[in-house]
Formats: sequence, structure tokens, C-alpha cells
Amino acid sequence: MAIPAPTLYDSLGGTTLVVDPKGSSGSTIEKGRLLIRSIIDSTIFVIAADTALNGHFTVLLSEVKMNNLTGFMALSKNLTDFVAVATGAKDYTYGGKSMTAAHDPAQNSRMNGKADNSDFNAFENDLVAGAATNGVTTSNPALVSVAKLVESLRKQVVQQ
Ligand code: HEM
Repeated sequence: MAIPAPTLYDSLGGTTLVVDPKGSSGSTIEKGRLLIRSIIDSTIFVIAADTALNGHFTVLLSEVKMNNLTGFMALSKNLTDFVAVATGAKDYTYGGKSMTAAHDPAQNSRMNGKADNSDFNAFENDLVAGAATNGVTTSNPALVSVAKLVESLRKQVVQQ
């Protein structure tokens, strides 16, 4: 039987189980998923402070201000599932909206206003900053591949 070629998910850490630093005692998580989740959570914090972008996230930010983390946790999970699946993970599925629906305020009331190209550029910069927080820099080929994946979605996210 042929050995399958390594996926981008593998180069992000793959399916090796490690202790989940945020999980209940001793629970484990795939190393690739942990890195993706860590970068995504850091990126959400960068976006929250980025005045170029945070106006679109008013629903999420007002919840967080009131110590309600339900929406944050749902977004963290859906984004992590999305990126994990998109990079080749086999053990997760994405159950959220399509990229077009998720970024259309008429179909997602949590999206405050349509994104334009400069919002998308700001998002990419914030993602690079979120990755750097986790020790992943632009010299890492895996991050370059993730950036290409993100860029391929521009047309679905930018709707004006
Ligand atoms: C390729 C880049 C992007 C990807 C892969 C992505 C992915 C996602 C995903 C998976 C969700 C959750 C959908 C659901 O829960 O059903 C989401 C929600 C959202 N996205 Fe994006 N997104 C991208 C770029 C952007 C940009 C540039 C903006 C800028 C305005 C943006 C704003 C939002 C907002 C406001 C939400 C709702 C957040 C909430 O649940 O409170 N996204 N996105």
C-alpha cells in the first residue's frame, strides 16, 4: 500500500496526540489542531484590538466585554475546524456556514457590514501577528502555504 504524501496539516504538527494545555485534566489534542487553535485564538485577540477590523466584530466584542465567551468559543472552534480540514486533517469536520454565507451580513447577523479588500489585507496581517505570538514566522514554509490558502478565499469573503 502506498504511503500517503504528508499534508499541510502534518507539517503543522499532524495527528500526534499531546496534552491539551486548555483541556480538562490530562485530555489530549492533535498537535496540528493545537497549533492551529493557538494561532487562531491569538489572531482573534489581535483583531479585537485592530481598529481597521474590529468594527465588523461588534457582536462578538460586546459579548466578550460582558464576560460571555460563548460566541468566542464557537468562533474559535469553527475557525479551527475550518483551517484543520482545509489543511488536510481527517479527524475533524467543519460544521459552520460556507465562507460566502459567513461573511454576508444578510446571512450571518454576527458579521457587522461586508468586508472590503483592505479589511482582508488587515486580516492577513493580523494572522501573521497571531502566528508570530506562537513562534511561527513567515520564514516557516507551512505559514506561507496557509497564507496561500487564506488568499484563495478572498473572493468569497470580500463581497463589496
Ligand atoms: C480567508 C479568510 C477568512 C476565513 C477562513 C474566515 C473564516 C470564518 C469562519 C470559519 C467563521 C465562522 C462561521 C460560522 O460560525 O458559521 C467566520 C466568521 C466571521 N468572520 Fe471570517 N474568515 C476570514 C476572513 C474574514 C475577514 C477579512 C473578516 C473581516 C471583516 C471576517 C469577519 C468575520 C466575522 C465578523 C465573523 C463572525 C464572527 C462571530 O461569530 O462573532 N472574516 N469567519
